[in-house]
Amino acid sequence: MKPRDRLRVAMQKSGRLTEPALELLRRCGLSFRQSRDKLFCFGESEPVDLLLVRDDDIPGLIAQGVCDVGIVGRNVLDEFRLTAGVEQAPLAELRALGFGRCRLSIAVPQESAYREPAQLAGLRIATSYPGLLGAWLRERGIEAGVVTLAGSVEIAPKLGTADLICDLVQSGATLVANQLREADVLLDSEAVLAGPAELPGDERGDLLALLLKRLDGVIQVRESRLLLLQAPRCAVEAVTRLLPGGPQPTLLPVAGQPEQLLLQALCAGEVSWRQLEEIKKAGARDMFVLPVEKMLT
Ligand code: PRP
Ligand code: ZN
Repeated sequence: MKPRDRLRVAMQKSGRLTEPALELLRRCGLSFRQSRDKLFCFGESEPVDLLLVRDDDIPGLIAQGVCDVGIVGRNVLDEFRLTAGVEQAPLAELRALGFGRCRLSIAVPQESAYREPAQLAGLRIATSYPGLLGAWLRERGIEAGVVTLAGSVEIAPKLGTADLICDLVQSGATLVANQLREADVLLDSEAVLAGPAELPGDERGDLLALLLKRLDGVIQVRESRLLLLQAPRCAVEAVTRLLPGGPQPTLLPVAGQPEQLLLQALCAGEVSWRQLEEIKKAGARDMFVLPVEKMLT
């Protein structure tokens, strides 16, 4: 078989991760032409193509070499790592992507007196994550029944097929709707870039390295703000001390005003109104907070 010279990225066909994943790839400078069947998207700006699939299939597609990397929830990746046979190629979390945050949690009926994991002994727990749940129970030496369900896990206690559940929680609305409450967190999850533990040594390896560099650039600056302001020389020290995240500012002269400086600083997170007001009190004026789109260092 001729080695592929294009990188193939698997991602969820339709679901919570689809739109933010596409947006992230767009920010990395990737554009695509969608095929008729909408399962394959040809990369136009770079030799990087997309395969749109069911999220649960993504780790297997990477392990089999059908795709090179994938954007998938950490919960799906870790479950695969725990349950895949030894014949499957090992997978790694290459990057955490900072969206699609949710938790894999134990949830019990609202009236349950649950306080600690030991109380789960002998109970039946419904889940789509038998690998992660099993490992969590083993670590705590708890013997409980694991009832594996492909979906609609949250109705199992009402149906009497389980006493409680272990499922993903994002807003918590599903739990509330089913009179359940979150009782313990097994895993904090978010979208990740999953890939082979060992990067391919061919052109695809170079493409992946390029993609990782661009992802880093986008992820790093996504939360960053560029702060611009003017301050008299005598106030610069006080203003600098108030900059959120403690960045080292760049100082520039202001034409015709020898006592005035322009200060520029990259702040690692949001800059709130309150913080701006404090900085203003310290002597700053003409303040601008700008979003940052790209960064390459
Ligand atoms: C998950 C999970 C819950 C729901 C929780 O399902 O199984 O049903 O989300 O979200 P909430 O706390 O915001 O209500 P999802 O919609 O991802 O579908 P899937 O499990 O079928 O993949
Ligand atoms: Zn799913």
